[in-house]
Amino acid sequence: MRKRALITGITGQDGSYLTEYLLEKGYEIHGIKRRWSLSGTGRLDHLLEDGDTGNTLIHIHDGDLTDGTALTRIVQDVQPDEIYNLGALSHVAVSFESPEYTANVNALGALRLLEAIRTLGLTNKTRFYQAATSELFGVSQETFQRETTPFHPLSPYAISKLYAYWITVNYRESYGMYACNGILFNHESPRRGEDFVTRKITKGIASIAYGLKSCLYIGELDARRDWGHARDYVRAQWLMLQQDAPEDYVIATGRQISVRQFIIMCCEKIGVSIEFRASGVDEIGVVAAVEGTSAPAVKVGDIIIRVSQSYLRPLSPPSFRGDAEKAKRKLNWIHTATVEEMCQEMLDHDLIYARRQQTDMKTE
Ligand code: NAP
Ligand code: GDD
Repeated sequence: MRKRALITGITGQDGSYLTEYLLEKGYEIHGIKRRWSLSGTGRLDHLLEDGDTGNTLIHIHDGDLTDGTALTRIVQDVQPDEIYNLGALSHVAVSFESPEYTANVNALGALRLLEAIRTLGLTNKTRFYQAATSELFGVSQETFQRETTPFHPLSPYAISKLYAYWITVNYRESYGMYACNGILFNHESPRRGEDFVTRKITKGIASIAYGLKSCLYIGELDARRDWGHARDYVRAQWLMLQQDAPEDYVIATGRQISVRQFIIMCCEKIGVSIEFRASGVDEIGVVAAVEGTSAPAVKVGDIIIRVSQSYLRPLSPPSFRGDAEKAKRKLNWIHTATVEEMCQEMLDHDLIYARRQQTDMKTE
């Protein structure tokens, strides 16, 4: 018998990598997707036939995490062995603009799924994965954050995820449900949404290299994050649901770099050295030297980075660095991709796109 997985957020970054991973493992996949006027399955189209669910191992169900009735019906129809709750309003800055919606989707969405499992009598059958986050730690006095580090969330997003974290623990402890929290640190890829900082940088720098834009506007340059590759992190999600007992795990690389260092790394990969001048909102990134031909549109003296107030958040955790020792010991999980390799993969992807766009513009 094939195992059956139900994935919320299947159209997102992690959803698409997890779908690939579970297909390799022989799973039948059911995904919940919000109804859109457009298909919204761009990250999955390579797995679907003609952009449709001709692939008989992938089934897409229309649904929304704010709609408990639909979620319960889908869980009843699918009778999943495993549910991966990846769906969320996942952008921290956006959660400040829509705190109520964020709570509805992220906090109550998790509750609705857990209640569906319980009320449908699937407590002993269906294992549940909750996409928790390093954002739960917020301001932390500890250099490395681990499972025992106290939480102090700093955004409506993080607070909604705190509820989802604890309701998952509560259903595990109250009803004996196999329910786990994966406390994942930032993870990226060429499929990362374009308004998250790493992808914004790789796409922005690639566009600047080919003259499609002249400058990248950015927020907090000194924020430090522990960045891993999404492909590694979905493997951990699966492993958490394959153990004898359900537990919560931190998943991280143990290394952190700043947004500024990520920008410098990206620029170096295309032969551009930049110098940062001034400070605060007046800070700029100026091209100091250009080597090779990877950035044909860039010249010494160009200002390619500026700080914009609009990308600064009311409150933001300055630094994250995770200790995934428990995941290594109990799940035999370690990350394989370094931040440099991940950055290269993202940049290569975005450079191809920028080069193609520039060629199209020339031929038009
Ligand atoms: P993502 O690319 O933003 O994907 C989010 C997914 O949630 C999308 O498929 C989105 O659907 C779906 N969604 C949003 N609102 C929904 C709603 N009301 N009902 C149903 N689905 C909804 O996020 P990701 O990077 O893959 O992250 C996956 C999960 O891990 C999220 O819960 C995120 O909070 C959490 N997390 C991520 C990271 C990270 O660094 N990536 C770290 C820790 C935790 P549409 O396609 O329709 O928008
Ligand atoms: N998005 C964005 N845009 N972030 C910027 C910018 C900018 O122009 N400039 C600086 N930053 C800083 C943010 O303030 C933050 O400190 C850091 O870059 C990373 O921002 P994001 O890439 O938006 O990710 P995040 O850390 O806020 O949230 C992501 O990781 C969490 C795990 O820690 C999301 O994937 C969350 O869903 C996830 O839980």
